[in-house]
Amino acid sequence: MTDIFSAIQRTAIRIKDAIDTKDIGYSQQENSSGETQLQLDIKCDMIIEEEFSHVNSIHTIASEEKEREVLLHKDGKYFIAYDPLDGSSLIDVNLSVGSIFGIYEGAFGAKNMVASCYVVFGPRVEMVFAHNKTKLHLLQGKEFEFVKEIRLNEKGKLNAPGGTQQNWKPYHKEMVDSFFNEGYRLRYSGGMVPDLHQILLKGGGLFSYPNTSDKPDGKLRKLFEVFPFAFIFKMAGGEAIDGSVDLMELEYAHIHDTSACFFGSKYEIQRVREVYAKNKY
Ligand code: F6P
Repeated sequence: MTDIFSAIQRTAIRIKDAIDTKDIGYSQQENSSGETQLQLDIKCDMIIEEEFSHVNSIHTIASEEKEREVLLHKDGKYFIAYDPLDGSSLIDVNLSVGSIFGIYEGAFGAKNMVASCYVVFGPRVEMVFAHNKTKLHLLQGKEFEFVKEIRLNEKGKLNAPGGTQQNWKPYHKEMVDSFFNEGYRLRYSGGMVPDLHQILLKGGGLFSYPNTSDKPDGKLRKLFEVFPFAFIFKMAGGEAIDGSVDLMELEYAHIHDTSACFFGSKYEIQRVREVYAKNKY
């Protein structure tokens, strides 16, 4: 696992450099989710594949930017699914973006996840790695330094509601409003990594991306976004569900499958569970 941790650190330093210096123009290609790829998405994907190709313990990789999995080392035991630059459409307005990595042993699938990691590229570069604990690291020069362990409170103060409101179910809107009525503050940038990072570091709250009329199976991808953050939130003392079921209990059929998802502290997730249990799912 140390070799993977080090490889991710190297990718972070190179991606930071790419964000700072390279062309971010749109390419002619679309990724597997039908989004137009930025040159930068492609560049970051190549950086990660190249760094992982030097790590013998990695068997197979799957990238959010690629249609299919890529076999790297047939004797390796780890399978890594990654989103090279989540929220990359926010780069042109200079908001934070991030890379997400889910690390599985033997095969992809939530039940095989053994570690998870994300890197936030904001004013500073930070990395959160969850293995036995959820640990925050800060890039200082060319090295990541350990900062602290992340633990969520039982109840938070932030509310990050994803998706387009006109496509929410009425009971979802009522639930989101119920948190605002209780004093929760809106914190939503449209980048999953910084939005969840904020909730983790500010002690808790709720990030929701429900099933909507335009996205009946949610928007966020199980392997590249949902499982990695579910693992991190649970290890930090929070919870992660799809409305009723623990996200880490979900199966996947295709590497680009999506799911509704709710990440938060115990108090907020209990409310989600109650509201969704009462309403047609
Ligand atoms: O994966 C795509 C993404 O940009 C996430 O980073 C983010 O949480 C989400 O989409 C935002 O979606 P929306 O704009 O529909 O709330």
